[in-house]
Amino acid sequence: MAFDAGKFIESSITGIKAQVGKKRAIIAVSGGVDSSVAAALAHRAIPSQLVCVFVDTGMMRLDEANLVKSSLAAAGVQIRIVDASEEFLSALAKISDPEEKRRIIGEKFIRVFERIAKEEKVSVLMQGTIAPDWIESGGASRDRIKSHHNVGGLPEKMGLSLCEPLRDLYKHEVRMLARELGLGAALSERQPFPGPGLAVRIVGEITPQKVSIVQRACRIVEEEIESAAHAGDIERPWQYFAALLSDSKTVGVRGDERSYQYCLVVRAVSSLDGMTANFSHMPHPLLQKISTRITNEIREVGRVLYDVTNKPPGTVEME
Ligand code: XMP
Repeated sequence: MAFDAGKFIESSITGIKAQVGKKRAIIAVSGGVDSSVAAALAHRAIPSQLVCVFVDTGMMRLDEANLVKSSLAAAGVQIRIVDASEEFLSALAKISDPEEKRRIIGEKFIRVFERIAKEEKVSVLMQGTIAPDWIESGGASRDRIKSHHNVGGLPEKMGLSLCEPLRDLYKHEVRMLARELGLGAALSERQPFPGPGLAVRIVGEITPQKVSIVQRACRIVEEEIESAAHAGDIERPWQYFAALLSDSKTVGVRGDERSYQYCLVVRAVSSLDGMTANFSHMPHPLLQKISTRITNEIREVGRVLYDVTNKPPGTVEME
């Protein structure tokens, strides 16, 4: 049966009201469409009982906090910004195992929420988890591919009950809800962004310098791909970003001198729901423009690669 966004909104408002009752709930928005839709639904269901938080983990896209604040304000949702970047980055120092990173990030998220929850006297945690998040985290007797942070890092005794109104939905259905809720095209059509943020786009140990490299590179990739799509040169991919292979530097030349610098991967994929994906066939002049801008504007990067791996066998993110 075709997904009916209007009916879903009605029934989930009833469901949220029933589950939350007279309690107060907290929701964390990340700037992605899932958490924004969950927040907008919760705002419709329990406006005076909802605390909406944006946790700055220090691993968000450039200017993310301001953008999230203004987009959600347009939909009537007020958010509280909590800067937890030092806390996250110091917990991740010297950690390079991908699952360990995800576990730490998931746990930190919950700890930060617990703190705010106490301050705000909140007892329900709302999340924008969608079906691929828990399927790939090993739900329904499937193998665990990676622990999506909103599932894998969840401590058993977190002291908050969980409400996940989008649990059974896929991304394209969430976008339909976003349009129906009037969240605006900038948000409803926004490319997905992973819960653990840029951490999964830094292969190896995370440092503030590497985060800054990936932030600037992602901005360049977004600008160039969006402008090519706007000009009608390409169809806008499902997701497009840069990732840093920070364990491996490569040799190059800058001016007359040898350089030994970071290697950056540009990734763009088409997909319907993130469960499978095909790498996008980008025109070479566009790739060249992206590569030239990255090596000119980000002096720490000496080489740019384009990822030509589908999912499977790859995943969309590097970790
Ligand atoms: P992967 O890398 O698993 O990504 O092929 C599939 C889609 O999910 C996003 N992604 C996440 N989203 N929490 C999320 O909410 C996560 O931990 C997470 N990991 C990956 C990814 O950006 C892609 O859209």
